[in-house]
Amino acid sequence: MKISRRDFTKAGLGAASLAALGSNSVLAGPENMIRKAIPSSGELLPIIGLGTNRYGVNESEAARAPLRKALERFHRLGGTVIDTAPGYRTSESVLGDLISELGIRGDLFLATKADRTDGADGTLAQMKESLARLKTSKIDLMQVHNLRGWKDALPVMREWKQEGRVRYTGITTSRSSQYAVFEKVMQMHDLDFIQVNYSIEQREAAERLLPLAADRGMGVIINRVFGGGRIFGKVGDRPIPAWARDFGCESWAQFLLKYAIGHPAATLSIPGMTKLHHVDDNFGAAQGRLPNAEERRRQEALFDSL
Ligand SMILES: NC(=O)c1ccc[n+]([C@@H]2O[C@H](COP(=O)([O-])OP(=O)(O)OC[C@H]3O[C@@H](n4cnc5c(N)ncnc54)[C@H](OP(=O)(O)O)[C@@H]3O)[C@@H](O)[C@H]2O)c1
Repeated sequence: MKISRRDFTKAGLGAASLAALGSNSVLAGPENMIRKAIPSSGELLPIIGLGTNRYGVNESEAARAPLRKALERFHRLGGTVIDTAPGYRTSESVLGDLISELGIRGDLFLATKADRTDGADGTLAQMKESLARLKTSKIDLMQVHNLRGWKDALPVMREWKQEGRVRYTGITTSRSSQYAVFEKVMQMHDLDFIQVNYSIEQREAAERLLPLAADRGMGVIINRVFGGGRIFGKVGDRPIPAWARDFGCESWAQFLLKYAIGHPAATLSIPGMTKLHHVDDNFGAAQGRLPNAEERRRQEALFDSL
């Protein structure tokens, strides 16, 4: 089924979803969403992407149908950036199948990773497999996963970039124990992107890595923005503060996303989402505006008081 973004209308969303969405989200289509530029190129990306470490399901229709729905809605709402990895079980093949069934490859920005530690040949073989599994001739962003094998992998990735098989390169982590080495690699190599964990609960990346990314002209993809979902347990069923509505928040997910992407060095976040209503909720964060420095400090103070 081929879907065009031009098909996006209020009527395109089900009544139940409309009820669940706030007014900002309902009124605003992809055209109005907040985008940020990739520093190395100026290309604009929507600030909400899709994390797929839970897309590694089997071939059954029962397992894939909800993911197809989430992906279709993600695309319809204007999402483009999808982050996957060979390390996420079958995630790359599931995405390759679903994207081709939906006929949406041309609208997407696909990011995957390499994690082989057996040298350049291993990385090369793995990148070729990723292209085949994702059913694509080109990867938008190729990243070294958790710095695994980075010394050998980065030159191979750079070569693919020169050949036009990869558009951008980067490195990822989600552990502060890797930050010191991560920082060194950022200083030594010209990367288009870093991907790092950053959330209202885990702010350590803001101490050195995010300012360094800004200095070095690197885009920043934020992972684990909900702490894997744990942060929702901490905020519980409290209402969001009234002042958060000033910058367009209608849910805790939007509060958390706007906080993280509101960091001046951040380019986008890739919340993991397998459920349709989570996609709808999270895209609300791309509407309105992002909090300013003072509002972000207020968000931190509130969270720290919980
Ligand atoms: N080192 C690395 O390179 C690295 C490490 C970790 C993660 N990542 C990338 O970052 C992505 C995100 O990380 P993550 O998925 O571990 O953590 P996360 O984004 O912090 O949390 C995902 C969890 O939050 C839930 N959720 C999403 N939207 C929600 C909403 N609006 N309300 C309530 N719950 C919501 C999801 O539920 P549902 O799934 O049920 O919708 C899922 O259980 C990964 O998928 C992966 O692509 C990269």
